[in-house]
Amino acid sequence: MPLDPAPVPNELKGLRLALLVAGGIAAYKIVDLASALTQAGAQVRVAMTASATRFVGAPSFQGVTGNPVLTGLWSADGSPEPHVALGDWAQLILLAPATANIIGRVAGGRSDDIVTATLLASRCPIVVAPAMNDAMWSKRAVQENIAALRRRGVVVVEPESGHLASGHVGAGRLANASALMKAMADAVRSTYDLAGRRVVVTAGGTREPLDPVRYISNYSSGKMGFAIAAAAADRGARVALVTTAAHPAHQGIDVRPVETADEMLAELKRDLAGADLLVMAAAVADFRPARIADDKIRREDTSKLTLELEQVPDLVAALGKEKEGQRVFRVGFAAEGSDLAAKGLEKMKKKGLQAIVANDISRKDIGFGSDHNEGVMLFADGTREELPRMTKREMADRILDLVKPRLK
Ligand code: PMT
Repeated sequence: MPLDPAPVPNELKGLRLALLVAGGIAAYKIVDLASALTQAGAQVRVAMTASATRFVGAPSFQGVTGNPVLTGLWSADGSPEPHVALGDWAQLILLAPATANIIGRVAGGRSDDIVTATLLASRCPIVVAPAMNDAMWSKRAVQENIAALRRRGVVVVEPESGHLASGHVGAGRLANASALMKAMADAVRSTYDLAGRRVVVTAGGTREPLDPVRYISNYSSGKMGFAIAAAAADRGARVALVTTAAHPAHQGIDVRPVETADEMLAELKRDLAGADLLVMAAAVADFRPARIADDKIRREDTSKLTLELEQVPDLVAALGKEKEGQRVFRVGFAAEGSDLAAKGLEKMKKKGLQAIVANDISRKDIGFGSDHNEGVMLFADGTREELPRMTKREMADRILDLVKPRLK
């Protein structure tokens, strides 16, 4: 019986989903599921056991998902460790149909095929949907394996009762598409509280050129902005990071390298449509050379050099005036050496921000270049939250916790 046409929950749209298929007759139903999820905007990758390929061909999954299918640990997909790559990539795993055999092997911690190895190498929530003959499902060995998986945090979607492929009637039929979607959406919701959100973050110090070999910049390393981008991505948001700095690769972050404030503004304008949250952690230039020399300014040509600087447009203020900017929750940072709260409040109002994090850039143990930060977060609604010294990643999560209930 084909799957019922279940609507795809919002939490699954845009999600990186690994579908792991074992060798049961219900494998054909997972083709429909993969197709519906892909059409709804989820990124779906499939891995199959050798037995699964006897029931459904890998090209069917490749056709509906648009992605190559893994059928073995030695698949020639270019990755030396395809199970680790898939486990790292996935934000959610669905193992379906889960046969008695694969459930036993997963419960036993085996990793001797692409499906069991991916499960072992994964870091994300796992949903398992058993499907088998009713006698097999009722066996104590199977039930004990299921109980072991549940104890380890795996979500099990109970099979339905009904007509089974064997001709028997009983419990063992793969749960319907609505039940599978709901279980996956619940797992996503409890793990990824920013799923479905689009977040834009800026990071690093902008670089304003003086001539082809020199620029004016500041000490921003980009660590604070990267921490916010990584925290938002880990919590399920789709993230664009507009940055002047190089960062470690991180799943779910779309990096947009820029140099100058003008380039940053152009990139931000492109990203603003559809965004829910903008966090301006970059140290954007306030001034830039009024003229950029075409050739390198040579020491031999002048004994004294006077630079004329002009103001750079205020990016957050400019973005607030854009039509799309109206619905985006905008958080700025204020880099100050004293009177953090008072100066932060003034900046927040002047720039039309909904919130600002004021941090002290005169200290060596926080702020510029450090892995730690400390400050105070102020909201336009009058709320004030102290952010004691913590790692930038911890502060990023704290900022997102405070912002999340305020997002439209
Ligand atoms: O990058 P790290 O080494 O990790 O350091 C982090 C940090 C100290 C740079 C960061 O926490 C921080 O304070 N970032 C903001 C730095 C800054 O530019 O502050 P500001 O007070 O000058 O500007 C206030 C806000 O206006 C900022 O959100 C800034 O991005 C924005 N701005 C500033 C100038 C400008 N022309 N356009 C802007 O939009």
